[in-house]
Amino acid sequence: MSDAAILPIGAEAAPLLAALHAEAFAPTDRWGAEAIGLLLSLPGHFGLVAAPGDAPSGFALGRAAAGEAEVLTIAVRPDARRAGLGRALMRALMAEAARRGAADLFLEVSEANASARALYAGLGAAEAGRRRRYYADGSDALVLRIDLTRPGG
Ligand SMILES: CC(C)(COP(=O)(O)OP(=O)(O)OC[C@H]1O[C@@H](n2cnc3c(N)ncnc32)[C@H](O)[C@@H]1OP(=O)(O)O)[C@@H](O)C(=O)NCCC(=O)NCCS
Repeated sequence: MSDAAILPIGAEAAPLLAALHAEAFAPTDRWGAEAIGLLLSLPGHFGLVAAPGDAPSGFALGRAAAGEAEVLTIAVRPDARRAGLGRALMRALMAEAARRGAADLFLEVSEANASARALYAGLGAAEAGRRRRYYADGSDALVLRIDLTRPGG
């Protein structure tokens, strides 16, 4: 899957993104369209969608301010996984964050989320901290950092 399938998306697409989020995270965690629309209208926030063959199949929300960026969420529909969309979304988010002046990209992931951890490890993410029993299932959150100044990072 090439990065060419990744497009910017704004608050007007919040209902679509909420549906994708519910599919990817259900039943544990849902973000409503209103919350996503609000996030995308805040300064420094941006959205990216993966739409291979014009079928929205995943998205990522990011935020960049004061030289640092954060992944707010990333999700790929269950039936579209392991096709490179998550990696393409992350690479596009990293490029957009760097374009907005960020040197570091931070994200949180459950230590129990093996697929997401493998995705981030492949992009050079390093553990920067840990929040004990952060998630509802009692798992720790790992705080990861990706150095955006490293070529190919
Ligand atoms: C995490 C997620 C976004 C990955 O999306 P994806 O499109 O399937 O990821 P990709 O196909 O781009 O995979 C990229 C790499 O990540 C790793 N990876 C992804 N899924 C994996 C899995 N189930 N098992 C092991 N490694 C996995 C692999 O290294 C993979 O590279 P490879 O396919 O060349 O081996 C997707 O599984 C998802 O939406 N999960 C539910 C929501 C979620 O957990 N979001 C992250 C919250 S922090």
